[in-house]
Amino acid sequence: MSLIADLDALLAEAQGLLAAAADSATVEALRAKYIGRKGILPEMMGRLAGLTPAEKPEAGKAVNRAKTGVQAALDAAVERLGGGARAGHAVDVTLPGRQRTLGRKHPITLVLDDTVAIFRRMGFLVAEGPEIETVYNNFDALNTPDDHPSRDPQDTFYFPDGRILRTQTSPVQIRVMQTTKPPIRIVCPGRVFRRDTPDATHGMNFHQIEGLYVDRNVTLADLKGTMAEFARELCGADAKIRFRPHFFPFTEPSVECDFSCIICGGKGCRVCKQSGWLEIAGAGMVNPKVFTSCGIDPEEWTGYAFGFGIERIAMIRYAINDLRLLYENDVRFLHQF
Ligand code: PHE
Repeated sequence: MSLIADLDALLAEAQGLLAAAADSATVEALRAKYIGRKGILPEMMGRLAGLTPAEKPEAGKAVNRAKTGVQAALDAAVERLGGGARAGHAVDVTLPGRQRTLGRKHPITLVLDDTVAIFRRMGFLVAEGPEIETVYNNFDALNTPDDHPSRDPQDTFYFPDGRILRTQTSPVQIRVMQTTKPPIRIVCPGRVFRRDTPDATHGMNFHQIEGLYVDRNVTLADLKGTMAEFARELCGADAKIRFRPHFFPFTEPSVECDFSCIICGGKGCRVCKQSGWLEIAGAGMVNPKVFTSCGIDPEEWTGYAFGFGIERIAMIRYAINDLRLLYENDVRFLHQF
């Protein structure tokens, strides 16, 4: 019977071509040619219908032989040409694992965390306040005169409702003193805003940390001791501080606190402009008028306050020469810390 002979011949041909196939494209073309929807084998199976009932069993067996034979030859060819995995999906178990890059703390966060940790060891609690403040808390309660230039819309961001973006962290001490009975010992880290034109040393927002200590018989000597201890903790055992007279409306007397240069140790270098000293903090004894505006009796309580810029310390500590680098968030820069 010619159908059976044709099927056997077809199987032999397919086996020969598949055994010789040199790439998977050839194998797939042969798959389509023999068993695809319009392939030779389905076409031959159509011829079964025209056979007599006596012929059908033998012919059926030949069809199955051809079908399983072609399928086995296809599987063998696929296996030979690159295993069961399809192109591009092969798994190379000898490849090294992929390492995920870990994020890092931003240099500002590093300095803030260190600073807060030092003051916590000295018994200060952390207090925070809102970045949108009232003019009263940011200026009036801090004894800032009505005509003080820092109130000017040229220097301070005003909202239409009259509130402002705080220009300093000092309003947090007002909030705490309005609601807490002395003794008070707090540090207030946070973001502040000033209407400056950004350049290498000025930004429109930066970070400060404020300190406030209110108790009986607090003196300038306590402030000096605290600043000296902070300098040693932050910069090393040899760090020194000095006070220079200054003016702030909310402290009296007021000082500027310099640290011996952490780059040259006080010998004089480019960073300290050969002076051996770096201006770090503003500080002073809380002005009695500020106590009165918060309902604290200045006859009974005294206190000191200080405040300094975190970016400035970060720039000195990590030798960063442009403040804007801290805000561009270029990972090549940030990965160095
Ligand atoms: N708030 C002051 C500033 O921004 C710093 C300061 C804080 C000075 C507390 C004295 C006491 O410049």
